[in-house]
Amino acid sequence: MTAYSEQVLEKADELRKNGPGLILGIESSCDETAAAVLRGRFVLGTAVHTQIPVHRLYGGVVPEIASRSHTERIGSVVRQALENAGVTLDDIDAVAVTYRPGLIGALLVGVSYAKGLAYANGLPLVGVDHITGHIAANYITYPDLEPPFMCIVASGGHSHIVRVNSYTDFTLIGRTRDDAAGEAFDKVARAMGLPYPGGPELEKLAKDGDPNAFPLHTAFNEGESFDFSFSGLKTAVVNIMHNAGQKGESVNKADLAASFQRAVTDALTRKSVRAAREAGLGTLALAGGVSANTALRERLQRECDRNGIRFCRPDMKYCTDNAAMIACQGHYELLAHDPSPLSLDPNAASFLQMQ
Ligand code: KG4
Ligand code: ZN
Repeated sequence: MTAYSEQVLEKADELRKNGPGLILGIESSCDETAAAVLRGRFVLGTAVHTQIPVHRLYGGVVPEIASRSHTERIGSVVRQALENAGVTLDDIDAVAVTYRPGLIGALLVGVSYAKGLAYANGLPLVGVDHITGHIAANYITYPDLEPPFMCIVASGGHSHIVRVNSYTDFTLIGRTRDDAAGEAFDKVARAMGLPYPGGPELEKLAKDGDPNAFPLHTAFNEGESFDFSFSGLKTAVVNIMHNAGQKGESVNKADLAASFQRAVTDALTRKSVRAAREAGLGTLALAGGVSANTALRERLQRECDRNGIRFCRPDMKYCTDNAAMIACQGHYELLAHDPSPLSLDPNAASFLQMQ
C-alpha cells in the first residue's frame, strides 16, 4: 500500500488546477478525536470527542488511554463530521491528517485511519504538521488573511514565534527553551490544586486577582532573544506557595494566578510584537490552545493597535485542538505539492523544531 493509482494522482492535479475540493480533516495528536469537512477555508461540518474528563482523573494526559480512546472513537467522529456537513464519503476529494507533532500512539491512530480511508476510496492523502494547522485556524476566521505575517503559536507543547512566509513555508524565529506556555499554565494550575487542563481553570481564577500583586518576571524573557523560558516562572510560583505554607500563611491564589498570567502574557506579547515590527510585517496572528486566553488576546490587541499592526486570532472554537484547522492547512498543502505517500509515518516532533 505505498503507491497511488494514476486516477488518484489525476484527482490531486485537478484539485490543484480547479480550486478547492472537499477536504476531510482528521486530528488525533493528543486528547481530542476530531474530524471536519471544509471547502478551502469554509467549514461545512465538524465533530469532536474530547477525552478531558478521563485524563482529568489522572491530572494530565495518559498516552495509552488516549490511543485507546482514539481507536474507539475515530470511526464515529468521522461519520458524525460527514453527517454534520451534509455530505458522504463519495463527496470527499482528499483526506488531511495530523501526522506530527504529538503523542506517537495517538498520532498513529489518526494516520492509520486516514491512510486506510484514502486508499480504500481512491483519495489523495495529505499529512499536516499540527503547528501549521494551528496557524491555519486564522485563515478560517479571517477569509482575507494572506501570508506573509508573523505568528505566535502558544500551545501545550510549543511556544513558537513563526514567520509565515507563504501558506506552506515557515521560518522559526523563536521558541521556548524549556516549558511551553500552555505547559507552564497546566503545571502552575496543578500546583494550585486546579484540575486538568489547567490553562482555562487558571484563567478563571485570575479574573478576580490583582495581576500586579506579585512582581513575577524572568530576566531571560526580558532579553533581546526571541526565545522564551517559562520554567523559572513556574518555579517562582511554586516557591511562593511553598514558603507561605512553611510559615503557616495563606497565599491569595487569585492574585498569584493573575500575576503569573500577566508575566506569561507580557513575554508572549512583547517578543511577538517586536518580531513583527523588526521583520516589517503588518500583521501578527495568535494560534494554539493558549490563544483561547482572553487576557492574552486583549493584551496583544492593545499592543498591536499601539504599533499599527493588524492583530488576528482564531474564533474561540478553533483555538484548541480541532480538525477544521488541519483540513484548512491540508487544502494549502495540496495546492503546493504532491499528496503525501501512503507510507506516511507519524512523528512525535514538529518539522519546525528541527530547523
Ligand atoms: O493547542 P492545544 O489544544 O493542544 C496542544 O497542541 O498542546 O493547547 C492546549 C493547551 C493546554 O496547555 C491548555 O491548558 C492551554 O492550551 N489552554 C489555555 C487556555 N485554554 C487552553 N491556557 C490559558 N488560558 C486558556 N484559556
Ligand atoms: Zn494543539
